[in-house]
Amino acid sequence: MSASRVATSRRYLMCPPTYFDVVYCINPWMDPSKPVDQRLAYLQWQRIYDVFVELGHQVELIAPLPGLPDMVYSANGATVLDGRVLVARFRHEERVAEAPAYLDWFDARPFDVRQADCVNEGQGDFLAIGDLLLAGRGFRSERASHAETEAFFQRRVVGLNLVQADFYHLDTALAVLDEQTIMYYPAAFAPDSQQVLRELFPDAIIANAQDAAVFGLNAVSDGRHVVLPAGATSLAAQLREHGFEPITADVSELLRGGGGVKCCTLELGPASSAPDGKVPRGHGR
Ligand code: ARG
Repeated sequence: MSASRVATSRRYLMCPPTYFDVVYCINPWMDPSKPVDQRLAYLQWQRIYDVFVELGHQVELIAPLPGLPDMVYSANGATVLDGRVLVARFRHEERVAEAPAYLDWFDARPFDVRQADCVNEGQGDFLAIGDLLLAGRGFRSERASHAETEAFFQRRVVGLNLVQADFYHLDTALAVLDEQTIMYYPAAFAPDSQQVLRELFPDAIIANAQDAAVFGLNAVSDGRHVVLPAGATSLAAQLREHGFEPITADVSELLRGGGGVKCCTLELGPASSAPDGKVPRGHGR
């Protein structure tokens, strides 16, 4: 039990759900026959945005594009670490056109940007912790993307095999809480990957099936506050016991596309002290 969890201000990129809809099905959560309540989706997204701002984080926006109803799930747009950006290459045709929008967004700012060659769904499948990059595969990002990502960021990638279609991205089954701590749902991973996680993170918070089913693991932590979907009640209680402050958000409508809090949040790094909100380092391309 730790009572001294420390929050650090972060910088996030979000995409308003202006064109959010469920008009195709690329994961088991999506049912195009059921209409989406766009207004409710907007309110739910706005609540996540407001919570981040209230917590002192910098939230930037990328303009949503018509015809790209999944663009609200900005976590998939790229992987960002230390000012370097590997822009996603989407598996499904329906999302392919999001990548150039993210590429343009990052290109217009002082980041060191590269477009991924391999199928790679950004922070949906790549989560940094300490010196490691945890990487999911099995449904979206292809195996070769792990080596590409490792080489680009010069960070050891730990490949994890996802085995349940409901948890098709790593960030639906595992969340990084701070530089040493994760929470995850073991059954979403193949036995060998469960073993790897047990060895690397013996003190992890283990989610139960109920918490996982409401996308409780699709959460964003600043080291102290953990924004997670409402309904993940035992997970929230466990977080509290471990010294974190859970903050819940209702994401029922966003879940209809197969995404929750983390899916709507692309983590750009620590909050910048530069007055223009830009990362105070510039790499050429
Ligand atoms: N409908 C989107 C898809 O299937 C949801 C993406 C959720 N994002 C995430 N980071 N898990 O691609």
